[in-house]
Amino acid sequence: MKLIDGKAVAEEIKIHWKQEVIEYKNKSGRVPHLAAILVGDNAASESYVGNKVKSCAQVGFQSTLIKMESDVTEEELLDEIEKLNNDQDIDGFIVQLPLPKHIDEVKVILAIDYKKDVDGFHPVNFGRMAQGLPCYLPATPYGITLLLERYNIETSGKHVVVVGRSNIVGTPISILLSRKSPAGDATVTLTHSRTKNISIIVSRADIVISAIGIPNFITEDMIKEGAVVIDVGINRIEDETMAKGSRLVGDVDFNRVKNKCSFITPVPGGVGPMTVMGLLLNTFKSAKKEIYS
Ligand code: GUN
Repeated sequence: MKLIDGKAVAEEIKIHWKQEVIEYKNKSGRVPHLAAILVGDNAASESYVGNKVKSCAQVGFQSTLIKMESDVTEEELLDEIEKLNNDQDIDGFIVQLPLPKHIDEVKVILAIDYKKDVDGFHPVNFGRMAQGLPCYLPATPYGITLLLERYNIETSGKHVVVVGRSNIVGTPISILLSRKSPAGDATVTLTHSRTKNISIIVSRADIVISAIGIPNFITEDMIKEGAVVIDVGINRIEDETMAKGSRLVGDVDFNRVKNKCSFITPVPGGVGPMTVMGLLLNTFKSAKKEIYS
């Protein structure tokens, strides 16, 4: 088994980009600028956004964090989005999900100017991705394809089983991997909570991508000998032995599955750091007007 070290790959990318950002700054007189809106006090969201802001500083991007109270109205949030849409200095921005229940996520995503939608969540970017047109790819699927390429994991003609059909991960990664493209050309099965015989389907996969958010959902008996396992789950479970009383685990029973597969991503330190790289890469593309003028 070989560990897919997303943390190390992200560090390599950041070192490489630092130089590119300096060159961009020398040419344009500015640096790429990402903004993030964080609503409420969800600890996991605070940690994810914190990592995004920290990574911006590491590569020399400017970042702006806009924190809003959990009781912010939908209208106030939409006003803030409109300001960012019109701010010439912001190349791209994200609204960290999930949002409090009283706010309509779809309305929020639709309010973001698709030219600044560096999360790739807006239907214009999603639709363009599905048709293989230039767009901002959703950050986590983008990060997964970068990892597969970095470890020379062949996807062409392989059977990929995706577990979970969210708009953020499961659905877009299933589309991306089946497209005619370098990290594509796979035969993809998208499974979800209503799938019958899910264990049998997963056990036929050359590559398993799990994004279902259930600890230990993927067990050793579900993995074919030599399969590649990409664990997108980030679940917090109780653990008395830890100072915090809890720890992060993925969807995969890592300790058992690792003996059976050829490659596996750990949690934390696998896909998570690469999601941030996908986001920064989109922001850089926006600054350079590579996708939209
Ligand atoms: N919540 C979980 N993942 C993501 C992500 O990639 N972007 C945003 N905006 N929210 C998230």
